[in-house]
Amino acid sequence: MAEGGKVISDVGTDHGLLPIYFAQNFQAAKIFAADLRQGPINVAKENAKAQGVYSRINFFCCDGLDFPDASLSDTVIISGMGGETIAGILQRAKWTVNCERLILGPQTKYDELCIWLFKNGYMLKDANVICEDGRLYLLLLIGALDSKEPKLLFAEDYIIKKESLACENWIKDRIKRTNKAIFGANKAKDNERSAKLTELLDRLLKY
Ligand SMILES: C[S@@+](CC[C@H](N)C(=O)[O-])C[C@H]1O[C@@H](n2cnc3c(N)ncnc32)[C@H](O)[C@@H]1O
Repeated sequence: MAEGGKVISDVGTDHGLLPIYFAQNFQAAKIFAADLRQGPINVAKENAKAQGVYSRINFFCCDGLDFPDASLSDTVIISGMGGETIAGILQRAKWTVNCERLILGPQTKYDELCIWLFKNGYMLKDANVICEDGRLYLLLLIGALDSKEPKLLFAEDYIIKKESLACENWIKDRIKRTNKAIFGANKAKDNERSAKLTELLDRLLKY
């Protein structure tokens, strides 16, 4: 998804695996790697040194995209965080609304993030699910607004079109989890939550 990026930023880089991959595979790209915590940044630096690409990556210990020249990025990756955290990072870096390409990997609050993106002028252009070590990971591709393209709101609107087992399992898994949550809400006599979840279940069952 990040192919062709000229200035690539990986936010929440952790051990720096993505920027190392970009440094090894995208020779011309300028690469930024940021993390909120110094520990992961130190590990990422050591990993980059071990792979001989340390000088290719600019490391920053900071919150989100709060580092110099972040706004030069044409490709921003923010993955492995909750949907709310991702929305917060984007909200604090308003320029991202015009960024060529955002690749987001939320681990929670998928629908809330999609709605937030839509309301804030970001356009969901594609979504996919990858399976790694038996776990499913959602990826959202966000691009600049283009009035000619259809505007689909939720990740599943794209996922349903993909003929992959991971995508099929993603929808099945969400249905299973939502059913379980409805059971819990009903048991707790939380009618409001139950109604919201039933609405979600109805949507998921249509795919
Ligand atoms: C679970 S790891 C994800 C690693 C990798 N991005 C991935 O998708 O596999 C989450 C990382 O995000 C970092 N993080 C959390 N909130 C952040 C923020 N506001 N700004 C930058 N990094 C953040 C954490 O310190 C942690 O290293």
